[in-house]
Amino acid sequence: MPISIEPLTPLFGATLTGFSIRHGICDDVIAEIDRALYEYSILLLPDQPMDDNEQVAFTERFGPLEETLPGAVGAGSKVARMSNYLPDGRLKDPDGQSALFTQANKFWHTDSSFKPCPAKASLLSAREIAVTGGDTEFASTRAAYETLTEDMKRRVADLIAYHDIAHSRLKLSPDAVTAEQRAKMPAVPQAMVRVNPRTRRKSLLIGSHICRIDSMPDDEAEALNEELVAIATRPDNSYRHAWRPDDIIIWDNRTVLHRGHPYDEVNDRRLMIHTTIAGVAPMFVDGRIQAGA
Ligand code: SIN
Repeated sequence: MPISIEPLTPLFGATLTGFSIRHGICDDVIAEIDRALYEYSILLLPDQPMDDNEQVAFTERFGPLEETLPGAVGAGSKVARMSNYLPDGRLKDPDGQSALFTQANKFWHTDSSFKPCPAKASLLSAREIAVTGGDTEFASTRAAYETLTEDMKRRVADLIAYHDIAHSRLKLSPDAVTAEQRAKMPAVPQAMVRVNPRTRRKSLLIGSHICRIDSMPDDEAEALNEELVAIATRPDNSYRHAWRPDDIIIWDNRTVLHRGHPYDEVNDRRLMIHTTIAGVAPMFVDGRIQAGA
């Protein structure tokens, strides 16, 4: 059966059906999903139950995976557990470091923009959904770039922004990030406008990890980042997903921002498993932006 692709919004996103990951899919279907990712930026695959091993095996068909961040549950493995409870079932302290670190995902961000080689794509699978809240929202930074005025395109064209995971965590609380995490993940430079090597289309690399912009006072840098995020996340440029169990969403970190919506972390339970496909190359080498990174 050919796979079916139905757009989710007029600008980006699609629902893909007509195959079962658990029952095995051939390389042609993987190639079609990869093509759809370049075209639609986010892909919803409903009714795809999977365990962690199946998720790793499926995600790896799109490229090598990143390891989970230092200090996170599952650090050093290929799966990140986004949840308000621990693998042994105990609820996390909602004011503790581990919970705060995850709660900072409520700010618009791009996965791993704080690494020298920013991530290509991410996959989130809904294992246990919250009764109320816990949606995930996406915004197209490619469509946003294309709507910028010519003045703004000129203003951002050559900007270099520094991305720091501690910066986004510290917006929430001084306790959201550990000294080890700060030491192991220092701020890294990234181009603010990236060109996709395959589609040649441009997108913005913006969001809550940006801590400063080269040659710009900090207040101006913060105002510019906020202005661009506001443009990118207008309702007509966003898609908010209310999860159903066994939904999978794959998104292209090079062309979208995303954020998690809050839920009742004290009385409810939510478990999402995240795998991340690594980018192909660092964006910045020897002080120069690399074409195609
Ligand atoms: C994420 O930011 O990667 C996860 C978002 C969510 O848990 O909804």
